[in-house]
Amino acid sequence: MKREDIERIAAELNELKCKTQKEVEEARIRFLGKKGEVTRLFEEFRALDKDLKREFGKTLNDLKQMVTNRIEEMKDSVGGEVAEEGPKQDLSMPGDPYELGSRHPVSIVRQQIVDIFRKFGYDVAEGPEIEDDYHVFEALNFPANHPARDMQDTFFVSAGHLNPLLLRTHTSSVQVRTMEKMPLPIRVVCPGRVFRNEAISARAHCIFHQIEGLYIDENVTFADLKQALLLFAREMFGPDTQIRMRPSYFPFTEPSTEVDVSCNICHGKGCNVCKGTGWLEILGAGMVDPNVLEASGIDSKKYSGFAFGMGLERIAMLKWQVNDLRHYFENDMRFLGEFRTAPEV
Ligand code: DAH
Repeated sequence: MKREDIERIAAELNELKCKTQKEVEEARIRFLGKKGEVTRLFEEFRALDKDLKREFGKTLNDLKQMVTNRIEEMKDSVGGEVAEEGPKQDLSMPGDPYELGSRHPVSIVRQQIVDIFRKFGYDVAEGPEIEDDYHVFEALNFPANHPARDMQDTFFVSAGHLNPLLLRTHTSSVQVRTMEKMPLPIRVVCPGRVFRNEAISARAHCIFHQIEGLYIDENVTFADLKQALLLFAREMFGPDTQIRMRPSYFPFTEPSTEVDVSCNICHGKGCNVCKGTGWLEILGAGMVDPNVLEASGIDSKKYSGFAFGMGLERIAMLKWQVNDLRHYFENDMRFLGEFRTAPEV
């Protein structure tokens, strides 16, 4: 036995690079197998005389330990049979981060609004996006020559019929469908997508989202509407929020109002977002016009109700000071990622 043999084996071991389990097994056989190099050295060792045994004993045992450790180590770090020809895997490396998506701001706002009204006892109702003229206009008391019916505003699916199909321009159509089929009293919110023939800009888009509210029962008054909207505004924008109602006109409500909330950015002092007024317009509302109740078979002498409608993009814009409507539809990850920390709902 020569010291060089031991050193050579130790050096070869250092150089050893196995890429597959098969190669590790070959190395094990080469060093530790029945006819392996280390096994052979142990056979030679048995024939040595006492002095030499003392000289080589520990070194040889250390060598065997080293080889065994190295082979075990390679067994653990080299991939399984499938990765035979693939790169060496280090299982102790940190994994690739798994990127979680985030909710779209419009979905976050819709969910918040639905949750608030659910607490007030409202159900959720939905209706078709491709609607007919009757449910979008006629039953909602739009006069035949009302500009909203015009080709300029409405995307028609089939024109020329008595009751053409079109893409709904507001979610108020779901009011009508709900009144037609739901038993009284009715308390619903109706979120959904709406479509208008508008040129796309920072302030307008041809697709956006609304949520409609409808409450019909005996003795529902304008005071009930005001209270419901005040409670909603405080849940949505904070407990100090004030509301202001301005007279307005919608064919389907009488009286009609547009509702502002106190600016939650400057708290009424006046800033860029509220254009110095201290108020932000958030929705349209009113008492359901008796014509609208009657059109859907509800006795307007016995029942009254209120309705309201708001744009979800607008609410999200006010909440997060988004300055361009187009951001909502472009799916730019830099924009969507901003909402990763928004409250999970
Ligand atoms: N449908 C109206 C719009 O799209 C919004 C609206 C106003 C809905 C008043 C209502 C309401 O229910 O009462 O502009």
